[in-house]
Amino acid sequence: MRSFSIVVAADLANGIGFEGKLPWRLKKDMAFFARITSKIVHSTTCSTRVNACIMGRVTWESIPARFRPLSSRFNVIVTRNPHYLDNKPEKNNPLVALASSFEDALDLVESLQGQSPVEPGSSPSSSVADIQVERIFLIGGAQLYNQGILSKDCSNIFMTRIQAIVKCDTFFPNIDPSQYRLLPRYESHTFLENYLQEPVEAGIITEGEYSYEYTVYHRDSAENSCKDE
Ligand SMILES: NC(=O)c1ccc[n+]([C@@H]2O[C@H](COP(=O)([O-])OP(=O)(O)OC[C@H]3O[C@@H](n4cnc5c(N)ncnc54)[C@H](OP(=O)(O)O)[C@@H]3O)[C@@H](O)[C@H]2O)c1
Repeated sequence: MRSFSIVVAADLANGIGFEGKLPWRLKKDMAFFARITSKIVHSTTCSTRVNACIMGRVTWESIPARFRPLSSRFNVIVTRNPHYLDNKPEKNNPLVALASSFEDALDLVESLQGQSPVEPGSSPSSSVADIQVERIFLIGGAQLYNQGILSKDCSNIFMTRIQAIVKCDTFFPNIDPSQYRLLPRYESHTFLENYLQEPVEAGIITEGEYSYEYTVYHRDSAENSCKDE
């Protein structure tokens, strides 16, 4: 149940960030990020069933204020500061929670995976306890990716691979080929369409000055073959 997937956009040198922000602006890829992290695949009448996005505090702050919390997703901010949300507008938002470590974040969202959905017609969600989590995503940044990629619970790395080397100061860790297998182009595409249960653009996508491709690294293990489907 605790299985999670990493979502990242990286250049050919694994660059992911510059000066606390994304080094590129790719509207289509942002839309893909929103789709993959928001999509609920198991039909439900429960309006509080959402996916969880775990992120480091720096990544949270890199999201423009008007886009946070990420809508229709359970946002978990990893920080060592337990008072981080004090005096912030998100303090009482049931879709925002703090975790004191990556493991605590996983424990929290796992605890919200099994619980019964709120009955239709009942009062709107007013607390974290009412949230039901479907899929779990780790969405950055480098500090969190460094921890997540080592976890046996990480089943997939959904990487938008930008076909360029861009000026970056933050990098995705090296992916150990003994742990994760880069799926060939056709297989990545099929995997993504099955995962999302909807069409996904195949091959190289060009947007402005950049070309990129949606790729999948999968951890092949007996445990993962029936997890996170
Ligand atoms: N290209 C992409 O797909 C992508 C995705 C996400 C982010 N990014 C980029 O990555 C950069 C940010 O990455 P980053 O590595 O600097 O920061 P980050 O991983 O987003 O956040 C780091 C913060 O997380 C908290 N943290 C990390 N490990 C922790 C632990 N074990 N226990 C408790 N708290 C912990 C700390 O917060 P406190 O200091 O509050 O304690 C730490 O300062 C930005 O440039 C962003 O745009 C790129």
